[in-house]
Amino acid sequence: MELEQTFMNFLLHHQERHNRTYHFLILMDAIISAAKHIEHYYITGALKGNLGCTDRVNVQGEDVMQMDDIAHEIIIHYLKTTGRVIRAVSEESKDIIPLDEKGGRYFIYFDPLDGSSNVAHGLPVGFLFGIAKRNLDGPEDFHLRAGKDYIAAGMFVIPTGTLTIAFREAGTWRFHIDETMNYVKPVRIILPDTPDTWELSFNATNRYTYRKEVRDWVRQNERRYTFRYLGALAGDFHRILTRGGMFMYPAIVNHPDPKKLRPEGKLRLMYEASVVAFMCREAGGHAVNEHGTPILDIEPKDHHQRTALYVGSKPLVEDIARVLEGG
Ligand code: AHG
Ligand code: MN
Ligand code: MN
Repeated sequence: MELEQTFMNFLLHHQERHNRTYHFLILMDAIISAAKHIEHYYITGALKGNLGCTDRVNVQGEDVMQMDDIAHEIIIHYLKTTGRVIRAVSEESKDIIPLDEKGGRYFIYFDPLDGSSNVAHGLPVGFLFGIAKRNLDGPEDFHLRAGKDYIAAGMFVIPTGTLTIAFREAGTWRFHIDETMNYVKPVRIILPDTPDTWELSFNATNRYTYRKEVRDWVRQNERRYTFRYLGALAGDFHRILTRGGMFMYPAIVNHPDPKKLRPEGKLRLMYEASVVAFMCREAGGHAVNEHGTPILDIEPKDHHQRTALYVGSKPLVEDIARVLEGG
């Protein structure tokens, strides 16, 4: 039997070392409880009949599976218990959710269940979250925060029992769930420098729908790297963090079916792209949008705003950014 350091112990020491308050601990404890609950529901969902589709669509116009709703409700329940969250943004709620506007200290942006198409198969999905803090130096303006203003961002890959979390200027760390349902054994994640292990991850069916510069870049570069695609950002990005390379979901600009065009990209800025971009930066990587602009610099205008995303090893992302800027 091997006993390891728990996430909570790691976090307590982290907060103490950086002279931080206990408020963040209360929030993280709630997020961990929510993730364990979602993990449990996901594993037992097929038995309970929770993995089927509901007959409604979410605010993005996509099918919502019962699991998305369950995950959303679980997270909101635990966030409420903290008394520390001002407002929450969830993929599964059209409106921003006010929680503790007066006493709260944090904003949280989350995708309760990322990779819905994997649900029916019981394959990996994600719970992604980004956290920003109230303006403690003046009146709160309630503006939506850019990724560079997040204080932490992370993801659970469910049901694989992993948590990856990044803290501002304190690195990206990975934990695994143990037999007592504790996340344990912190391992610092740093993207590998050398391209030997790098992978490329994108929906290959879409390659002909990208703008010409991106299509050309793919044609010239794809043979150098191994290709992997799960169809859930959390799972695909999980691999990129340890193997290096790049995950991308470019804008879809050439599609015969106008309904399938996505000139703004598909992924959501606040609770998908900025979350992985933040984790990537803390692991030594980079992320840009379709214009080569760093994802973390984008000030959101809408909480469900979409973006194209290129995220991963710095040299690779900088290389495609030059092509994107020039196009
Ligand atoms: P969600 O299930 O939360 O709507 O997100 C799905 C996203 C993301 O996880 C994934 O990378 C991407 O959609 C997959 O899209 P395609 O099926 O078009 O490849
Ligand atoms: Mn998602
Ligand atoms: Mn989702």
